[in-house]
Amino acid sequence: MKAIVPSEKGKPFRLVKYFTFTSLVVIFLGTIVLAVMNVRWARSLQLSKSEEYALVLVENLNHQVFLQFIIPAALKFGKIQLRDKEQFEHLDRVVRSTLHSFKVEQVNIYDMNNIVSYSFDKGIIGLVNAGGTGYSNALEGRTTSTLAQRGSLFELSLGFPKESKLVTFAPLRAEKPLSRISGPVLGVVEIVQDLTEDDKAIFRFQILVISTCTAIMGVLFMVLLMVVKRGENIIERRVQERLRLKEELSRAQHLSSLGEMVASISHEIRNPLGIIRSSAGLLKKKAAGSPDGHTIPDIIIEESSRLNNIVTDFLNFARPRWPRFKSCRLQEILDKNVTYLSTQLESEGYAVNIEAPERLPNIFADADMLYQAFLNLLINSMQAMPSGGDIQIHMEQADGRLRVLIRDHGEGIAENIITKIWDPFFTTKEKGTGLGLGIVQKTIEAHSGEIHIENHAHGGAQTTVELPINLRG
Ligand SMILES: Nc1ncnc2c1ncn2[C@@H]1O[C@H](COP(=O)(O)OP(=O)(O)OP(=O)(O)O)[C@@H](O)[C@H]1O
Ligand SMILES: [Mg+2]
Repeated sequence: MKAIVPSEKGKPFRLVKYFTFTSLVVIFLGTIVLAVMNVRWARSLQLSKSEEYALVLVENLNHQVFLQFIIPAALKFGKIQLRDKEQFEHLDRVVRSTLHSFKVEQVNIYDMNNIVSYSFDKGIIGLVNAGGTGYSNALEGRTTSTLAQRGSLFELSLGFPKESKLVTFAPLRAEKPLSRISGPVLGVVEIVQDLTEDDKAIFRFQILVISTCTAIMGVLFMVLLMVVKRGENIIERRVQERLRLKEELSRAQHLSSLGEMVASISHEIRNPLGIIRSSAGLLKKKAAGSPDGHTIPDIIIEESSRLNNIVTDFLNFARPRWPRFKSCRLQEILDKNVTYLSTQLESEGYAVNIEAPERLPNIFADADMLYQAFLNLLINSMQAMPSGGDIQIHMEQADGRLRVLIRDHGEGIAENIITKIWDPFFTTKEKGTGLGLGIVQKTIEAHSGEIHIENHAHGGAQTTVELPINLRG
């Protein structure tokens, strides 16, 4: 078969493949970007919620500290002095009972001189100037929240720090009892919320989104790959088929012109051949008296008959007739073949054994054409065993077809000619025309059947013919 030219090998489909892969990559990247944006949005939402939460906490803490500690302590002791153990413990109780069910890691209260007067961490009490800009802003009445993150550069750039804390500084104000009007700043409250767990949850969510996307994309990719592969196979098969048809067409055209030529020559040969045969017949009658006069006319008659058969083969090949389908029994046809050949079979030492199941269905076929085809095959088998031998014919029914296997025990067919034996005029025999198998093939194809010849594993050639049972002409 001709090699496939690259331009014929489904070029448009490669574009589809390219398109498919590109779109897949675009979709994948798009999904990742969406996932990242989604997580960023979730983070900023979480941060602003935490800030709002901190404001509510601070407001509540301010309220409770002022009402439950500052006023009672001022009344009782005349002055707020957190170095006084009783006052400190009172404030500690108020702060802890206010915040006990909230997620607050640390609370520091600064006085007006930026000294830590109260803290969950007793070690930093008394620390001077620890407040920074958050403290200064709070003194001026502004509340500020800052996110403090700790971790390696890699962790921070990927957005999953080891530690993430929201630090809020707010003024601690005097309040008018039973009203929301706030008075002057009395100090500064710093609260620290630990957001590490929330960050981790968001990070886990991010990983989940990305891995789900990757898995879905992976499945999509596999499906697309399968579709593309199947498409490519179909295209390739079509290209092969087109090439095969093209080759068959050119071969058919070649054969048809060859056939036309052979047919017209054969036709021309037949007429003079007829005259030669009838003249030889007359000559035979005339020479009837002489003792050896009959040999020469007999040779002329025999050879002209052979020539006539060859010419008939030529014509059968060049202008095969369309089958006349009728219901017939294949076994009967083969029996007829054997009967016809019986004298030769017996005298030259051949044994034909037909093996067939009891009841084989009839087929619709042209019995005369099949008779000629099977005769050609049997003659080939006989010729393959010049000194006689067994020919086995096996018949069976399978998948709506009748299958006939003809096996001989000759030399078989040499590997280098096995594809050529179907070519018209190809022969390895001295007196062969090389048209026998060509005629058989045309006959079997005209019956929508199939024929193969191969060498049998245990020697000899085996021909397989398959004919449909229900074909109606
Ligand atoms: N049973 C077989 N065993 C071995 N070779 C075979 C067999 N059948 C066919 N061949 C090979 O295939 C060739 C072509 O066969 P085909 O029947 O077409 O022509 P032929 O037998 O040579 O001549 P023709 O049939 O016209 O007298 C043969 O010459 C032979 O080489
Ligand atoms: Mg032959």
